[in-house]
Amino acid sequence: MPPGEKKGYFCSMYRIFPLLMTVLIAGPVRAQKADKLQPKPALLRLIDGNLRQAVNQYKILMGHLPPDRMPRSYTAYAGKLETSDAGWWTSGFYAGTLFYLYSFSHDTALLGEAERRLTLLNKEQYNKGTHDLGFMMYCSYGTALRLIREGVLREPAAPYDSVLLNSARSLSTRFNPTVGCIRSWDSKPWRYPVIIDNMMNLELLLWATHESGDSSFARIAITHANTTLRNHFRPDYSSYHVVDYDSASGAVLAKKTAQGYADSSAWARGQSWGLYGYTVMYRYTHDPRYLEQAQHIAAFILGNPNLPADKVPYWDYNAPGGNRVLRDASAAAIMASALIELSRYVGHDQARKYLDVAEQIIVSLSSANYHAVVGSNGGFLLMHSVGNLPGRTEIDVPLTYADYYFVEAMLRYKEIGHAEE
Ligand code: GLY
Repeated sequence: MPPGEKKGYFCSMYRIFPLLMTVLIAGPVRAQKADKLQPKPALLRLIDGNLRQAVNQYKILMGHLPPDRMPRSYTAYAGKLETSDAGWWTSGFYAGTLFYLYSFSHDTALLGEAERRLTLLNKEQYNKGTHDLGFMMYCSYGTALRLIREGVLREPAAPYDSVLLNSARSLSTRFNPTVGCIRSWDSKPWRYPVIIDNMMNLELLLWATHESGDSSFARIAITHANTTLRNHFRPDYSSYHVVDYDSASGAVLAKKTAQGYADSSAWARGQSWGLYGYTVMYRYTHDPRYLEQAQHIAAFILGNPNLPADKVPYWDYNAPGGNRVLRDASAAAIMASALIELSRYVGHDQARKYLDVAEQIIVSLSSANYHAVVGSNGGFLLMHSVGNLPGRTEIDVPLTYADYYFVEAMLRYKEIGHAEE
């Protein structure tokens, strides 16, 4: 986009910003009062059984994990737990899953382990070398803080909100106002790459403005979401994985993929990240454009002829090979969690459609096709996700974030009908 246009865009954004600030400080959007949907009792029973198993399975995972590492995946043929340090983008999901499971079980062994892993993550609040601080810190500390405020967890000695605000400050340093986006990777050959996944890091910033009243965080998140809305999406509302920008002019240089089948394809997890990201944008801003975008993305996914009957996507919607193509359980779990939230913001019939799919996904992921027997799968809950197929890493394996969003989706489902409304 030419710099002149950018200026105009910023001016109009600043004009509407006081309104958005009122919304952000007043609080996230609530579900529509009318048209309440109810959860299905049989699915609630299935979920409770899954969560009880998850508690036991995560105690097994906990027992295998070195004290200074975070679980990432499991290589079955070698019987090897794959781990990361606290600086890797997936480092926050384990603690977040443990906090979620504690909220269900009140099992203090899980809580103690979650709090120990937070101490490993603590230094990442100053990490300015990654765009993934939202994943790393909001899914861990942020999840814990929400549970504290709901009265599920006790107040810690050192408050989590200051860790999260520092994380938001660190993430904000990666924003370039000329591009209108937070930079994703620092690696070559990219110039100023922005990946669709980055929509997931915006919640940390929106929360930071809501918490502190400092509008600069939300302004970055909103600008990033708007730039992504303009440049990442195709006419059918599928998204490119990577848009590479010229950092000096803000011009789009290329639209590519890194983890998908092709530049022009719809990488499954990327579509789920977009769906979840715009749903969260709507929750905080009440801007109907974000709700429309989330609904468009949902329509692309749910109407896709390559979405399998069990609603667990192939790793890329356009990967050739028919039903021999690998599934990505992580994309399904993220989608289920996002659809449950999205169903709260739309009318009854649309909500029912979203919930039907979320229910199907939870049932599918609970089946022996994807759900590991306790004691197997290295202690992870779900089998059959794909991390980075073109990069030849984490192919058809458990992944820590598949578990996190699966547990989140199940807990969200349990809240249907009696969430604060
Ligand atoms: N970059 C996050 C992902 O692989 O989805």
